[in-house]
Amino acid sequence: MNLPADSRAVHVRAPGKINLYLGVGGRQTDGYHELATVFQAVSLFEDVTATLADEITVHTTGPQAHDGVPTDDRNLAVRAAKLLAHATGYRGGAHLEIYKQVPVAGGMGGGSADAAATLVALDHLWQLGLTLSELHELGSQLGADVPFALQGGTAIGTGRGDDLHPALATGRFDWVLLTSSRGLSTPEVYARLDSRREENSLIFPLTPEVPPVVLQSLRGGFPEDLAEALHNDLQAPACELRPELADTIRHGVVAGALNAIVSGSGPTVALLCGGADEAAAAVERLREAGLRGQHVHGPVHGARIMNASPHDE
Ligand code: C5P
Repeated sequence: MNLPADSRAVHVRAPGKINLYLGVGGRQTDGYHELATVFQAVSLFEDVTATLADEITVHTTGPQAHDGVPTDDRNLAVRAAKLLAHATGYRGGAHLEIYKQVPVAGGMGGGSADAAATLVALDHLWQLGLTLSELHELGSQLGADVPFALQGGTAIGTGRGDDLHPALATGRFDWVLLTSSRGLSTPEVYARLDSRREENSLIFPLTPEVPPVVLQSLRGGFPEDLAEALHNDLQAPACELRPELADTIRHGVVAGALNAIVSGSGPTVALLCGGADEAAAAVERLREAGLRGQHVHGPVHGARIMNASPHDE
């Protein structure tokens, strides 16, 4: 049976991300920091299925669904739906069913992926016909990482991180993720970086730049080169707030990773491996040490309509 377009469930998949490089500059008057970052979208996804409803409601399932995810207006998918309705004058609602695989408050942009997927799903379901740049503009009002979740691939982010320029990356990179059951608050991690910089009168570039070596290593496609170029200014404050992260990083390197880095504001640790076989071997060694690593790869696509329920695939 062919249903009319607006009564079908629209399923959109959006990726989580790793920051391969994250340079944090000065704090602006709005509280945000000037960034120079390189994002890579990885094969850990959020699936949002939207159906027509009178109100805007959300329900979350999946391995990363837990009570800490709000279902009211603090939920980024709900905020995305309301912003889209407000911006376009759309008067109806939608129910959003989220299958969550990206850790909550994990530094991998899970909430941003939910918002990006919701914008794309509702643009289609509500037949609004917005352009990608209009969706990006709405996305950046919701969070600095939302435009990247829309775009995917590998990209340089400047400004708040939402001013995106594509970065050329050759081949695929294999990562093992070590997630944590407790999230870290992004504003707290930034605040810890600020206070350390102040206390120690540290000198840092107010407007940071991505070092050319990072982009060269991505173009070359050799994980060994990228491993040397990985850097995150938020890693030290994240490790101060969560001291066991230093052990996690050490375990990752002992398990055979080329290098390990805290993703974004943490606490997820991303291990860069030499290839798919090396990643599988690292997962096995971590398992023997009692740690659960998850093998993913990047770059992958941004928010994309899948046209089916996630569980039908
Ligand atoms: O944009 P988003 O809501 O994801 O950011 C969460 C928090 O991270 C902000 O409230 C801010 O404290 C911090 N942040 C920042 N500078 C950025 C991006 C995020 O200070 N460029």
